[in-house]
Amino acid sequence: MLTIQSERQIPAKLLPFLQPSRHKAAHGGRGGAKSWFFGDEAVERTLNGQRGVCIREMQNSLEESCKQLIEDCIARRGLELYFKITDKYIACLASGGRIIFKGMNQYNATNIKSLEGFDWAWVEEAQDFSQESIDQLVPTLRKEGSELWWSWNPRHETDPVDVMFRQDPPSNAIVIEIGWQDNPWLPDELRNEKDELYRKDEEKADWVWGGGYQVISEGAIYGQQMLDAKKQDRITFVPYNPSSPVFTGWDLGRDDETAIWFAQQFGEGLHAIDFYKNALETLPHYAEVIRSKPYNYGGHMLPHDGNSKTILAKHSAKEQLEELGLNNVKVIPRAANMEAVLGDIEFGRKMISVTKFDQDKCSQGIRALQQYRREYDTRLKTFKQRPLHDHNSHPADAWRTLAVAWNGDLLVKPKKAAPLVLPNYGAI
Ligand SMILES: Nc1ncnc2c1ncn2[C@@H]1O[C@H](COP(=O)(O)OP(=O)(O)OP(=O)(O)O)[C@@H](O)[C@H]1O
Ligand SMILES: [Mg+2]
Repeated sequence: MLTIQSERQIPAKLLPFLQPSRHKAAHGGRGGAKSWFFGDEAVERTLNGQRGVCIREMQNSLEESCKQLIEDCIARRGLELYFKITDKYIACLASGGRIIFKGMNQYNATNIKSLEGFDWAWVEEAQDFSQESIDQLVPTLRKEGSELWWSWNPRHETDPVDVMFRQDPPSNAIVIEIGWQDNPWLPDELRNEKDELYRKDEEKADWVWGGGYQVISEGAIYGQQMLDAKKQDRITFVPYNPSSPVFTGWDLGRDDETAIWFAQQFGEGLHAIDFYKNALETLPHYAEVIRSKPYNYGGHMLPHDGNSKTILAKHSAKEQLEELGLNNVKVIPRAANMEAVLGDIEFGRKMISVTKFDQDKCSQGIRALQQYRREYDTRLKTFKQRPLHDHNSHPADAWRTLAVAWNGDLLVKPKKAAPLVLPNYGAI
């Protein structure tokens, strides 16, 4: 082992990372000294003869890797003489330590085994790391005492790395949130950039610098409309109005989620008063949920497959729900192609712009509408037109069902709704 005394500065918040741990996870907004810490750590480990990999989800060239950052760490600490830097790796010849730089796209189930004897792996930009990559990398690094380091700027609470470390962290993990406030060496350039963004767009600054989750995700379909709803205080307390019928809008999950919105027309606008979703339940379950709520229903809007009959189900969802006691069950027309789907999404946008959402009862649905987004083409690095099929798409599809019904005047508008006046809420 080499004994080299070179100055290394460590932010106080990251000191717990100096003790051994299987996982070391650092998340937060920009400028939190995360990359410099792990860069310095990589340099130390290499001097001590360890082998490590800097890895990210996608890497097409070394410019996209942390290699430059680590070279800068070496230069800053005047350690150039101890390292050999090539276009593929950084090595310490005296100790035998080495760092390589990879993307998970360069590995398959077989060649990833080459990492089995590595001492550490640093997953930078871990918000992009997929569940498959986590499942592949973690068990591969199996040398005794080997460590996985994770650093990222949070984006969605549903990103696999957030689920892994922030919702139910493993017992062998040290998880630290760190931001610009904790970085004693924050350069003026970054500080000014931060102040500027907080002045111009507080919402975005809270994500980029505050380490919060993104309110409008990239490729968001309803993001702008949901942000407007929030800014205009339309995500609030919205009570049930017994004098106006409640309509439900559905997405029917055959093998996955079923989602249901509960809404009341109010003048030209809509009140989203409730939301329900579940997975792998049968129609009697959903009918019971509907019946158990104290609402006076005007009708139930199903997507086009509400009319489908299969060998397994001789009765369509519409027929079954009617049999289960729901009245006025209607099926909206099928969107013939992607262009028609996009047209229906436009109705969904318009409907959001005139809707008040109940922040508590609709919280799951609201989050899904905020995060519903288009598919990303990793090769072309652009968003496709097609919406991404994920846990957000079912509530968003149910919203679209309601929007198509609303646009097609399928919802029975109340003749003249009496204005409801509530304490602290005002006339609606
Ligand atoms: N140990 C350190 N010693 C001196 N300066 C530091 C140190 N760590 C960070 N800095 C300064 O703070 C800046 C931000 O640090 P760093 O790039 O590590 O943050 P980060 O958390 O990775 O940010 P981002 O989320 O934007 O990637 C660096 O460019 C550097 O100027
Ligand atoms: Mg960084």
